[in-house]
Amino acid sequence: MDTPTFNMPNTATYDLLMNRRSVKAKDMEGPGPNREVMEKILRAGMRVPDHGKLAPWRFVVLEGAAREKLGDAIAKALVEEQETSEKIADKMKGYATQGPVLVVAIYSPNDSRPIPEWEQQLSTGAACQNMLIAATALGYAVQWLTGWGSYSPSVRADLQMSEQERIAGFLFFGHHGECYTAERPRPNFEDHVTWGWPADAAE
Ligand SMILES: Cc1cc2nc3c(=O)[nH]c(=O)nc-3n(C[C@H](O)[C@H](O)[C@H](O)COP(=O)(O)O)c2cc1C
Repeated sequence: MDTPTFNMPNTATYDLLMNRRSVKAKDMEGPGPNREVMEKILRAGMRVPDHGKLAPWRFVVLEGAAREKLGDAIAKALVEEQETSEKIADKMKGYATQGPVLVVAIYSPNDSRPIPEWEQQLSTGAACQNMLIAATALGYAVQWLTGWGSYSPSVRADLQMSEQERIAGFLFFGHHGECYTAERPRPNFEDHVTWGWPADAAE
């Protein structure tokens, strides 16, 4: 597919960017994206700026019962690593089944070229955000979560991740349920933007 979009205003895309918001995974309902839709979302995730063409990311898609294994892994890790009681840890078993489909976005650094890790991490973040946008554009609800489990050595081992890899996010995909998802307060534009050369602006 080679359909460049240079010099072609697309206000629908801009409107989507300005109105997109996350839907809490716990508020999601089925059906989630099927394989065909999920593939479209993942392909959009891979189509991001990537210094050195390293593709420093990989994605583990968990659907159906496979999600329960992640919940089990997190509950096990809580008991082993945090000395959490089994009763409390059991509650975490439902973490991964909150949404119908879950993608574990894994940052997978590539040292074949001298590209700083920071830049590879930025590319991974862009991949996650592209998936959020693509899912929204295709009519699905999505939320990007991490939480304690994403940093657990035991969970990482259960996901067969290497020492260098890190979890960039648990991305949940589903449909928006009956509830209302309010817009959240957005940053104040002026607090985050300066125009012109900094030293000149201070004068
Ligand atoms: C890397 C990353 C990790 C996040 N982890 C969590 C999390 O564990 N729990 C949470 O409530 N929100 C988390 N968030 C924020 C949610 O994605 C939240 O839904 C989002 O900030 C809402 O903003 P939006 O409506 O613009 O998507 C995380 C965001 C990012 C970028």
